[in-house]
This record gives sequence, structure tokens and C-alpha cells, in this order.
Amino acid sequence: MSVFSNKTKQIELTRNRYPDLKKGPYADLTGQDVDYFSNLLPGRVLTDASDLEGSNTDWLGTCRGSSQLLLRPKTTDEVSKILEYCNGRKLAVVPQGGNTGLVGGSVPVFDEIIISTQLMNQIISLDDISGTLECQAGCVLAALDSYVSDSNLTMPLDLGAKGSCHIGGNLSTNAGGVRLLRYGSLHGSVLGLEAVLASGEIIDCKSTLRKDNTGYDLKQLFIGSEGTLGIITAVSILCPQKPKSVSVAFLGCESFETVLSIFKQAKHSLGEILLAFEFMDSASMDTVRDNLNLTSPVSEFPFYVLIETGGSDGKHDEEKLTAFLENQMSSGLISDGTVATESTKIANIWGLRERMAEGLMVDGYNYKYDVSLPLSKFYQLVDDMRDRVGGLATRVVGYGHVGDGNLHLNVTSPQYDEELMSLIEPFIYDWVSKYKGSISAEHGLGFKKRNFIYHSKSKSAVDLMKRMKLLMDPNGILNPYKLLPDN
Ligand code: FAD
Ligand code: MLT
Ligand code: ZN
Repeated sequence: MSVFSNKTKQIELTRNRYPDLKKGPYADLTGQDVDYFSNLLPGRVLTDASDLEGSNTDWLGTCRGSSQLLLRPKTTDEVSKILEYCNGRKLAVVPQGGNTGLVGGSVPVFDEIIISTQLMNQIISLDDISGTLECQAGCVLAALDSYVSDSNLTMPLDLGAKGSCHIGGNLSTNAGGVRLLRYGSLHGSVLGLEAVLASGEIIDCKSTLRKDNTGYDLKQLFIGSEGTLGIITAVSILCPQKPKSVSVAFLGCESFETVLSIFKQAKHSLGEILLAFEFMDSASMDTVRDNLNLTSPVSEFPFYVLIETGGSDGKHDEEKLTAFLENQMSSGLISDGTVATESTKIANIWGLRERMAEGLMVDGYNYKYDVSLPLSKFYQLVDDMRDRVGGLATRVVGYGHVGDGNLHLNVTSPQYDEELMSLIEPFIYDWVSKYKGSISAEHGLGFKKRNFIYHSKSKSAVDLMKRMKLLMDPNGILNPYKLLPDN
């Protein structure tokens, strides 16, 4: 999944692309600083430009910083000592997990020190009765899923980047993914966490309890705060039972209205076994076909729906899904589709949907948007964007977690094009705001979207966020130029 290869050299430095943005009141790194960290983390300090290349560049290949130092702590105590030192010296830092974030939040803008959770990958405990998993923040999501799977549990979130993203990164972005429909957001499934403030103070909110109403629920502050309030070092999370049987249906639909009708029926008829309800349009299907050579198991349609079910009784679940699909066929909503119960076939179908981000990158530059919209307006944005950008774009595609009201609208062009960008932004944010959507459903604001926060949040809310930031990170060393708007 790496996109860094030889491309990095051609990626413009963020500070050059945004010449008006100036480095904040932070110190420059000195040899003495490097010596301090080398003593603290022997053999776990990277300073070589080529070693830092991948970590300076985001997954999309659209943001590139110029950090000269990457630190790899193993313990919370080490993170605490790093931050205490950086705070004293006013050295800015960027926390980094799997570096799969899609809004430029995980990489430096200027020369911030990268604090990577790569080596904080220990599982602490698993209670297979309550389903509570405790682990360090740098555990890779897929590795955790495979670990808990041995106890017939599953992680309550699943996303295309699972092979690289870290659970700490997931919490920091409040990642959604394809199973939010069933298991809800991380604000519900995270039971506790440990975080380190900019001062180095360790905040212990490591509860493993399902119910705990003693005072403010501080852990929620860190979930979705994108590394601007503290570094998450450990997590406790509730894992649901792993479904005994999983089935996937992939269906062709004539219109977006049909997609919505099927969704309504699916909720009604599949009820508790519905795991995921995703959609993609024909331009999305063209993307993975043209750019990744994937093949569709169904004939050509304007829209496609992917339904996943999972329950505790394979026979019963399959019967339920079959009855539902027969119903949809006889009412004329579906005319072509396929069902898979075997793992390879299921993975191939999921590949069509989950590898979309990878497929889009092949076009060159990817203008990526992730919005929440009322379902009545959901696809109209894609049509309007297509009309607006016309032939300037290579393609305009719509796909996403329709079951959660979350649209991924993506535009591509061979390289970054200012004229095309000026057609897309701020038009898209104004459009979303007009229909009372959110300009970031699940990816966060990061570097790219911070200045559009007012399209989704009131001034009073942003003002309080700024006051909280000042309280928790008075020198502003934690992930500057991210999430909060420029003054
Ligand atoms: P990073 O990218 O390293 O960091 C993300 C942000 O969190 C940064 O601001 C960083 O500073 C901060 N951060 C990281 N670790 C910590 C920490 N320990 N403490 C404090 N701050 C920290 N996202 C979704 O929501 N749903 C999807 O379905 C989805 N699918 C994706 C599919 C692909 C192919 C890709 C490439 C990305 C996808 N994403 C999705 C986006 C991304 O994977 C998620 O945002 C993920 O949660 C990021 O985790 P990470 O470990 O890679 O974090
Ligand atoms: C997805 O759902 O595929 C991810 O959020 C990535 C993307 O938006 O491309
Ligand atoms: Zn998504």
C-alpha cells in the first residue's frame, strides 16, 4: 500500500505550496537536542533524510514536511520525557501512527519533530468475558483484530487501511470505517485511554469499565482531537463477538433512489445481522477497473451496493439474506447481483470498494472529500461537482458509507491544478454547509481542512476548542497548523 516509492521527490514541500503560511514561534532543532534524544532513546532516533522521507510525506502524496528528526519511544514514560523536553525548548512535534491519514494531519508542515508510535505495539491484556482489550497505541488495527479473533472477538472498527493504521491513530482521528453502522463510533466503544499532555504530564483515564459516570468523561476529548491535545499512549476498547458467519451481497442498481430504497429495506429485513452497507457509483467502478485491473462480478450499472451480514447462526443468517434479496428482485429493485459466503470471494468483493483510495491515486493528484449529508441530498453533490469541474478533471467519483450518511467525493487530475482546486473549494464546503452536513465525516480536519471548520461548527464552539487547546498545550507545540483554524 505504500505510495512513497520514487514519487516523494516530485511532491512539493507544503511550505512551498502554501507560501503565506509562516512557521510558528518554535525553536529550531540543534545538535544538543539530538544528543538529548539519542541518550533517552538509544538506537531509536532517526536523523537521516532518506530514513525520514516516508514519514515526512502523507499517504496521499499531497503534503510534505521537512522534519529532520523522528523519535520512536517504546513506553509512556519515554513519551512523557520527550514532550517535557520539547515543551521546555518550544520544539513543535507531530504525533504519527501508521501515517494513513487523509487530511495531511500526520506529517510535519515545517520541521516539526515526528513522534512515531511504531514501537509502542504491545498488547496489555484481553478479558475474553467482557471483551475488553487493553493495548499500547501503536498496535496495528489488523494485528489487533487477528489477536482478538482467537478469542472469538472482533475489533469494533474496520477500514481499508487496517494493515497499516495504528489504534492510537484511529482514536485520534475518531476513524469511522465500514462497520460503524453496526458497532457505532469509537466514542462508544473506547472504554479508557492514557494520554500525555504537552507538558509531559501523564493523564490516566485507563478505565476498563462499561459504565462510569464519575465526573467529566475526559477520554472523549482525545478521541478525534488529531494529536493536538495530547499523545495517546494506551487504549482500552470493547470488542464485540466475532460473527460466526459472514455473507456479502454485491448488487447493481439503476438509480441512487434505488440504493436508498434497498438500504431502508435492508435495515428492516436484515435487522441485527446487518454489518455494513456501502455504495459506489459507476465512475468508482471504472477507477478500480482501469487503474487496478479489478473485475466486477456484476454487469454495468450506474450504482452498486455492498451489503455485509454477520450473525451467530450461519443457516439462519443466509436464509434471511436470501429472502431479502429475493424480495428486492421480485419488487424490481435489483436485476443483477452476487452473494459470497466464502472468504476469498468476500475479500475480492470488498477489494472493489476498499481499494478505491488506492485506485484513485493512480490518476495522479487526488482531491479527496469526506462529507456527511442528509440522504435526500447525498448524491446530488456528486452530480453538481461533475457539472462544475467539467473536462478539467480526469474523473469525479462518489462512493462511501451510505449507511452512515457519509459520502466520499473524489476528483482526480494528472497533477495538482490550482484552477481545478479553485472550482472545488470553497464551493464544496459551501454546498455541504447549506444542506447542514459536515465537511469532515470521518477523516478529520488535519492540515487541509482546518480553515473550513466554521462551515460545520459555530464560532462559540470553535472558541471553546481554542481555550481548551490553550489550557492543555499552552505553547502550542502539539501538531501545530492542524485541526484549529489559523488566526
Ligand atoms: P496517522 O495517519 O499516523 O495520524 C492521523 C492523525 O492522528 C494525525 O493528526 C496524527 O498526528 C494523529 N495521531 C496519530 N497517532 C496518535 C497518537 N497516538 N496520539 C495522538 N495523536 C495521534 N478513515 C476512516 O475514518 N474510515 C475509513 O474507512 C478509512 N479508510 C481508509 C482507507 C485507506 C486506504 C486509507 C489510506 C486511509 C483510510 N482512512 C479511513 C484514513 C486513516 O486510515 C484513518 O484516519 C486512521 O485512523 C489513521 O490512523 P493512523 O495510525 O494511520 O494515523
Ligand atoms: C474509504 O471509505 O474508502 C476511506 O475513507 C478512504 C477514502 O475515502 O478514500
Ligand atoms: Zn471511509
